[in-house]
Amino acid sequence: MKIIKVKDYDELSEKACRFIIDKVAQIEKPVLGLATGSTPEGLYQRLVEKNRQDEVSFKDLSTFNLDEYVGLAKSHPNSYYHYMYEKLFKHIDISMDQVHIPSGDVANLEEECMEYEKQIRSVGQIDVQVLGLGVNGHIGFNEPGTPLSSLTHVVDLDSSTRKANARFFDSIDEVPEKAITMGIETIMESREILLLVSGESKAKAVTRLLNGEVSSEFPASILQKHKHVTMIADEEALGSN
Ligand code: GLP
Repeated sequence: MKIIKVKDYDELSEKACRFIIDKVAQIEKPVLGLATGSTPEGLYQRLVEKNRQDEVSFKDLSTFNLDEYVGLAKSHPNSYYHYMYEKLFKHIDISMDQVHIPSGDVANLEEECMEYEKQIRSVGQIDVQVLGLGVNGHIGFNEPGTPLSSLTHVVDLDSSTRKANARFFDSIDEVPEKAITMGIETIMESREILLLVSGESKAKAVTRLLNGEVSSEFPASILQKHKHVTMIADEEALGSN
């Protein structure tokens, strides 16, 4: 794993933006895997700016998001569709039919999971998967205990995850109990992974990710086995690592 240590969140966002822009420029029809949460917000802001300034075009880009809450319509302010549309897609020159996010408000969730996995395979491979890190080691919404061989599936969210994400909702009771997420295997099949980690609250998780044993009890530990991971982390997240 390549580790890029940065001073703070601003520098993390700047470096991540440069990383993505370089990849998009190098690949003819780039496919990006995208994450939500607070961590990639600065990256998305910068990508919007660079697109406005004509430093990068996203017209040949396809995207696949990691996850979505079950039960929230696309238009719900806390759906990940809404997040992605408001923070990135509506501001850039991407074609919306090349954007993929699992739907959490369909009648048949199992079918949606299989269909999503099929869509990913139909483009070949995700070139760069952007990942954040959950305090409990989740990647996407793959909570501790998720089999390392999992494909896109429905998960019961951990109480710690619902608590951590309650800040986006009016109360914890409104945080959905389930989500659809790319599986650990789906993520591992990406050609390259860009892991972004910021802040002291992630320091313990970073230590376990780097030094702990590879185990489904700490899903992010599997990244030790991926051949092409770049982690950009700020000083607070890296701690003494
Ligand atoms: C969320 C998302 C993940 C995200 C992680 C970290 O629950 N499902 O995709 O990477 O938790 O979020 P944050 O960046 O807000 O700390």
